[in-house]
Amino acid sequence: MQMTDAEKNNMGRLTRRSVVGGLAALGIVGAHAGSSSPSRAASRLTPYGVAVGLEPFRHDPLYRQALIEHADIIVPMNMLKWASLRYDKGKIDFERADEIVSFARAHGKSVRGHTLLWSDYNPKWVDELSSAREAERVLVNHIEQVVDHYRGIIPSWDVVNEVVAHDPLEDGDWRKGIWQDLLGARHVEIAFRAAARTDPTAKLVINEYDLENTGLRYDARRNAILNIVRNLQDQNIPVHGVGLQAHLYAERAIDQKGLGSFIQTLEQMGVKILITELDVIDWRLSRNPVKRDIGVANVVAEFLEAVYAAGRPESIVTWGITDRYSWIKDVFKRKDGAPNRPLPMDRNYRPKPFMDVLQKYRIL
Ligand code: XIL
Repeated sequence: MQMTDAEKNNMGRLTRRSVVGGLAALGIVGAHAGSSSPSRAASRLTPYGVAVGLEPFRHDPLYRQALIEHADIIVPMNMLKWASLRYDKGKIDFERADEIVSFARAHGKSVRGHTLLWSDYNPKWVDELSSAREAERVLVNHIEQVVDHYRGIIPSWDVVNEVVAHDPLEDGDWRKGIWQDLLGARHVEIAFRAAARTDPTAKLVINEYDLENTGLRYDARRNAILNIVRNLQDQNIPVHGVGLQAHLYAERAIDQKGLGSFIQTLEQMGVKILITELDVIDWRLSRNPVKRDIGVANVVAEFLEAVYAAGRPESIVTWGITDRYSWIKDVFKRKDGAPNRPLPMDRNYRPKPFMDVLQKYRIL
């Protein structure tokens, strides 16, 4: 997927300056700094995080306020992806990612990094790589530079994203894409090795979608993840977590048993679970907003119940916080044209039943 036009237009518009200085100018740093206690994240609660889009972050003060009030963890939604950092082949531009990371730090929030390798959201020059040798050099170099830039600042990384085939029963375990095409299964090992070498203290995560539902395709996808983890461990390559993206389809049943045994198997292997991109695909739910919000909350509750029955996730991150800004409308638009309602707060930042469910599970 590509950057939005708005994102592209904003590229390079900022002058180089201290990010914190810039935030102070915007009135973000200062008044609220330190208002949310970092000890919240250190308590027994499962830390709650939000993936943050740069556009609303820059232009909507209510969005920033919601982050300050609710989030323990901030995840730059797109700004650490290759197309954002590496738009031009010769350079690496941390400025926009740093804008979000600095905000997080100024408010005592932790940060998760998303993502060091994906077959999507890459600049054209990456998609045009043609030799294994160059791909490995470019990949290792990128991971070293990015992880090093945030050493001591970003303690947890989605090292690889969506590397499993949509349907492993049809296509085998691996998803096609530039890194797999050029490097084969080694691309995951290369990425984890480079990340571990650069920051030996960082938690390194495999992030993946469609791991929670019932059916042979889901069994095969969970199995593919276990194979990858086993292979890394056999080679003494550190892997600390599996991220369940959890873009939940409201019309699909959660596989309590299958998901539970997946989580327990990982636990026996010393690997934790994280919920990394939670939201609800509500395209098939009732048009009625009250009913829809209850339907959405029920799906989240069913999912979290299955996860917590098997083990406690390290963190729960939602992919955005308000229905006002979400990727769901771009990919899962409703046929009746009613706006999607995938997230914990409505368009006007009123908490929805989804938020109540989160609160309940976070304290378990
Ligand atoms: C999405 C973002 O939300 C969009 O703004 C962007 O245009 C494309 O990427 N799985 C992932 C995320 O791992 O990185 C994707 O985020 C959503 C699906």
